[in-house]
Parts: sequence; structure tokens; C-alpha cells
Amino acid sequence: MSALPLKALPIDQLRQRSSTKWRTHDADVLPLFVAETDFPLAPAISAVLARAVELGDTGYTPPQPGIREAYTAFAQRRFGWTVDPDRIRTTCDVMMGVVEVLRQVIKPGDRVITNPPVYPPFDMCIVEAGGVVDRVPLIDNGTGWELDLAGIEASFAAGARSILLCNPHNPTGTVHSRESLAALAEIAERFGATVVSDEIHSPSTQPGVTFTPFISASDAAARVGYVITSASKAFNLAGLKCALIITASDGPTQIVADLPPEVEWRTGLFGALAAVAAFAPESDEWLDSLLAALDENRRLLGELLEEHLPGARYRMPDAGFLAWVDLSALGWGDDPAERILTEAKVAFNQGPNFGPEGNGHVRINFGCSPEVLREAVERAGALLAK
Ligand SMILES: Cc1ncc(COP(=O)(O)O)c(C=O)c1O
Repeated sequence: MSALPLKALPIDQLRQRSSTKWRTHDADVLPLFVAETDFPLAPAISAVLARAVELGDTGYTPPQPGIREAYTAFAQRRFGWTVDPDRIRTTCDVMMGVVEVLRQVIKPGDRVITNPPVYPPFDMCIVEAGGVVDRVPLIDNGTGWELDLAGIEASFAAGARSILLCNPHNPTGTVHSRESLAALAEIAERFGATVVSDEIHSPSTQPGVTFTPFISASDAAARVGYVITSASKAFNLAGLKCALIITASDGPTQIVADLPPEVEWRTGLFGALAAVAAFAPESDEWLDSLLAALDENRRLLGELLEEHLPGARYRMPDAGFLAWVDLSALGWGDDPAERILTEAKVAFNQGPNFGPEGNGHVRINFGCSPEVLREAVERAGALLAK
């Protein structure tokens, strides 16, 4: 693996950005909350976007922008996963893909399982699709988190019709094992239910960790599953609007083919251009460098917490740039991020937003420079002396 150093942009440049991360809080706040990263774009992405701006190429996305071919090759190279290009469609973003697929596979009022603590918009998307959230929390097995397969089975037995899986999981960074995914598929199939798998963080799975796309976990998984993914997290393209919906057997493929044409029309042209460039082999080196930078930061975070916030409980994530940190031992109440924001001027995500399992927790975005990460933890740690 190449590990050319990838450095985050200097903070004065970042503060000129106009995205949510940089425009939500005052300039004295260090933002380590929303899932945007602070690195320069991969060169191939900058080039394709600059050319589009030069040409005024800002119209609608064509029917075949090249994403199918680019993603199929990427999935083969990075995950050893063979995807049928004819079973890929696009839409504007992952959560919209989730809503549109759920609308097809559930009826209004049906229950959809989530595994909290989990990315807060999951609940809203289930409700938007007409469903009712059915919470089956992840199990903390002492060394990591895993799906509560018995709890999920009980929920399906009691009538839940689908599960909205997060793989890799936000906020814990858990990459679910092939065995647990295959077991989930078997259970879902037995109850005639479906599995909608949000795999947006998969491109940033760390080397040495095996990411299993849900629909590749077993034949049953291919029959019951839908994968929704994007280049947008690893490559920081959330504002450009492009996500992929992928299936692996005829039933789900037909359901996706029957989605209203508008679902695909909502794909942003800049998102499509950037995704093709992100998934191209020429961006592999940048992605490897990103993973190396994130690997350093996830280790550094452990050291910083030990030094400045003793009592914090943290497990290094296997994917992504988000860390789930339990601060309950510090006695800062259910929502430590609130105090850290007001008194230390550091914005972490508030744990309780991820479900009651998140009480006492914060989510830290370490997709930044080591310097920013250090300052953020030092500022929070200084509260202990107060
Ligand atoms: C697990 C997960 N799914 C979806 C999203 C949002 O994706 P999109 O902007 O493509 O809807 C995020 C953003 O952080 C995420 O972490």
C-alpha cells in the first residue's frame, strides 16, 4: 500500500469553506462533528470538477455517466467483490436511496429494525418512508460491537418487515463479519423480510480489516438485500449528491428498476463526475494515503484521551473517521458534548442523538489534522481542572 502523507488543509483555509462543518459554529469553535473531512480533494476529482466548471458543464446527469463501470472495477479491486454493472442504479444521496427503497419494501406502519447507537437520520428516514422504528441495540461483547441476532430474530418474528443495517456502522466503526451478515440474511429470509444496508463508510475500511458487502455475504443475502453506498464519505463529496443502489438478485433488482425515474434523475452531475473519478484506479493512491492518515489519527486519539480525558472509554474504529467515546465516567451527565461545546469551544456530536445508548457519549470526527485533534482533546480535557 502506498502511504504518501496526506495532510489536512490549514485551519485558516478550512475556515473559508462554506459547508456545514465550517458555518454552523462561531470561529472560536473547533468543529469535529458533522461527517466532513479536512483533506484536499483527490487530484482526479479536482481535475474533473475544474474542467466541468470551465465548460459550464452544469446540466443534468446523463443516463450512463460511467459510474457502473467505475464502481464495478473499484469493488473488485478494493473488496474482491464482483458486482453486476446492470444491477447498479444511482440517486442523489444515500439517505434518499434508503427512503426510496424502504418505500418499496414496506407498507405504511410496518416496523423497520435499527441497531442503535446509530446515525440519527436513520429514524427520520424510516418515518419518511412510512415505517415505524423498531430498535434492537448493538451488543457490546467486551471487545467490540455486534448485531443482536437473537433480538433481531425476535423482532422479525413479531412482525418487523425490514432492517436498516449500517455496515460499517456509524458511530462505532464496526465492520460486520461475513458470518453475522450471513446469519442475518438467513433470519430475514425466513421471515420474508428485507435488509437495506447503508455501506457509505465502506471505502474507508482500514487495511487488514475485511469488509463484506451485505449482498455478497451469502446467496440468501443476495436474495433479500439492497446495498446503498457512495464515494461521498471517504472522498468528502457530500455536497455533490450521488449515491449507488446495488442489488445482486432478480427480485431486488426489479424493485430498484421499478423506482420512479425521478429517483435516478436526482443524481447530481458533479456528484457523478466526482464518483467516477473517485472510484477510478488513479484515485487509489489518494485513498490509501487517506487511510494511513486516518489510521494515525485513530491511534493518536487513543493516546490523547488517555492523557487528557482519563476515564474516557474508546475503541478504535475499523473503518471511517468517526470515533465513539464514552465519557460517562467523567460525571458530565448524559450529554457531555453540550458542556464541551459551551465551555471548551469544541463541537463533537451529542451522544444521546444516537439513541439512549449514547447517553454519556460523544462522537468525534477525526478526519482532521493531528494538530486539530490534539487541540480539541486538550481543550476538552482542560475542563477537568475546572
Ligand atoms: C451511515 C451514514 N449514512 C448516510 C450518511 C449521509 O449520506 P448522504 O449524504 O449520502 O445521504 C452518513 C453521513 O455521515 C452516514 O454516516
